[in-house]
Amino acid sequence: MRLFLDTANIEQIREGVKMGIISGVTTNPTLMAKEKGVSYRDRVVEICETVNGPVSAECTARDVDGLIGEAREISAWHTHVVVKIPIDEIGLEATSILSKEGIKINMTLIFSANQALLAATAGATFVSPFVGRLDDAGQDGMEVVRESVEIFDQYHLPAQVLAASLRHPRHVIAAARLGAQIATLPYALLKAMVKHPLTDVGIERFLADSQAYEKESARSGA
Ligand code: E4P
Repeated sequence: MRLFLDTANIEQIREGVKMGIISGVTTNPTLMAKEKGVSYRDRVVEICETVNGPVSAECTARDVDGLIGEAREISAWHTHVVVKIPIDEIGLEATSILSKEGIKINMTLIFSANQALLAATAGATFVSPFVGRLDDAGQDGMEVVRESVEIFDQYHLPAQVLAASLRHPRHVIAAARLGAQIATLPYALLKAMVKHPLTDVGIERFLADSQAYEKESARSGA
């Protein structure tokens, strides 16, 4: 399973990449809006130069020609760019045209396995079920991941399931166990995955014991 970061914050991306565990990034207009003093294009290129893997950048046009033009433009910014297109009729039409040109698409705002099947059939490289937002609405978001993985496997569809809108560490484990190829993590979730109170206690105790041992060795001349 590959882990992506779900942020447009370059410092967070640098931190994740330094740890050697991040192989891609997803952004969206909401995440971009948090970044001040930098253009959309410049930030996307900066992210592409920081992470050695796919970087999703969202299209916002609301007609087929507009989406196609925007996707062609954004995808030319860097070889790592994957264009993000929301699923609907125009999104599917644009995806079916763009995918034939070799442009990689992350089909986003997926809330059902039907939508996931349509996205994969249209030629999307990545299909992103939004787990947390479905949970928020009282549904089982992970069920869409499970059904999508099963359907893609069953028919050998090349699209990869990218579990998105993840909110807590158990979401990541569930997506991994279900066979999602990618989980995209908000930075706070990545930090929560690293942390365990028993690890902190264990490190402190080993440190204290090693200092006590060094002190005793010095005292006894051993
Ligand atoms: C990633 O591709 C999505 O845009 C993101 O995971 C959405 O997360 P949210 O539901 O927390 O906004």
